[in-house]
Amino acid sequence: MKILVTGGTGYIGSHTVVELQKKGFEVIIADNLSNSSIDVIDSIGKITGIKPLFEKIDLSEQEPTKDLFSHYPDLNSVIHFAAYKAVGESVTMPLKYYQNNLCSLINLLREMESHGIRDIVFSSSCTVYGQPDILPVTETAPIKKAASPYGNTKQIAEEIITDVSKVTAIQAILLRYFNPIGAHESALIGELPLGVPNNLVPYITQTAIGKRDFLNVWGKDYHTPDGTAIRDYIHVVDLAMAHVTAIERMLEGKNKQKVEVFNLGTGIGYSVLDVIKSFERTSKEKLNYKFMERRPGDVEEVWADTEFANRELGWKAERGLDEMTLSAWRWEQRLAGL
Ligand code: NAD
Ligand code: UD1
Repeated sequence: MKILVTGGTGYIGSHTVVELQKKGFEVIIADNLSNSSIDVIDSIGKITGIKPLFEKIDLSEQEPTKDLFSHYPDLNSVIHFAAYKAVGESVTMPLKYYQNNLCSLINLLREMESHGIRDIVFSSSCTVYGQPDILPVTETAPIKKAASPYGNTKQIAEEIITDVSKVTAIQAILLRYFNPIGAHESALIGELPLGVPNNLVPYITQTAIGKRDFLNVWGKDYHTPDGTAIRDYIHVVDLAMAHVTAIERMLEGKNKQKVEVFNLGTGIGYSVLDVIKSFERTSKEKLNYKFMERRPGDVEEVWADTEFANRELGWKAERGLDEMTLSAWRWEQRLAGL
């Protein structure tokens, strides 16, 4: 079985390629390397013993995307990770985000339709729920108005896929990720944030390694037990495995609707201070941090109801918070050559 993985040299994509290869899938990666490095191909090869095929292409451009599909007429399915994902940047450069994230999806769907490729797994986000009224949040919770153009691209993309599925053979599984963190146990692949990280865990590890002076903890006056905001952090390898399960579900015809939606989280909410404590425990490093005002746009607390994904997909996140923070730390140490 041949799977096209767009954005496959990126953070979540690279871990998914490893899990696909372990299950015997042949992988073709299409990525323009706008937020990843070609070295990831070698690293994947070191982990699995198989170097995936790689095509450097910008999927937001129609002609190269057409050529890609003509070159691989026997693809079975697509996993679509390729997108820009910096929430703050999307506010200042909305067109960059709408153009890249939506044109890539449209080009892909058009080629899938014309080549008779049926299955797509799409990277969505828990950001579509905003601050949910009921926790844990289920897949049927209302979609809230997006807080950023990035979030809006995820909502629109879900709608585009749903509309297309109604009038073509295309079927989809939309995976709404909660907060993916951590790295592969080999420390050969992980998250490579460009510039100053926005996300919590890369900021923690960069502070501990000495690249940043201290971590800003955004807000200590939330209505949570320790006053800091709560998220559902999920190990990237658990997340990667869910993609393999989703692909298999569609290939085996076990999906029950043309478009299915699953939350990918652990079902456990941890506060920012919980994550810091876990990091200090596993790395044996003392972290410098300061409490600051809340970050605009942040929700107070969100964690997943995973019952539907556990039951229907037959998938469950297995790795705990300490494994997540330790693997992230090992990755940061490797980047620093330690
Ligand atoms: P990433 O930036 O590490 O990976 C995305 C990859 O896509 C990169 O390698 C980049 O070079 C590539 N890319 C971007 N635009 C492209 C284009 N036009 N053509 C070809 N390649 C292109 O990001 P990630 O964290 O691995 O995220 C993967 C997906 O998951 C994204 O769609 C993201 O929005 C979504 N997501 C991520 C998170 C998270 O916390 N990381 C949470 C929810 C959803
Ligand atoms: C953010 C995005 C979300 C996106 C996800 C993955 C927003 C509002 N949401 O989620 O759309 O899918 O990243 O890219 O930006 N924190 C600190 N100090 C820091 C960084 C973070 O205290 O330096 C706190 C945040 O306030 C939050 C928690 O850590 O409470 C997690 O933050 P982050 O890793 O940025 O993820 P989200 O904000 O949940």
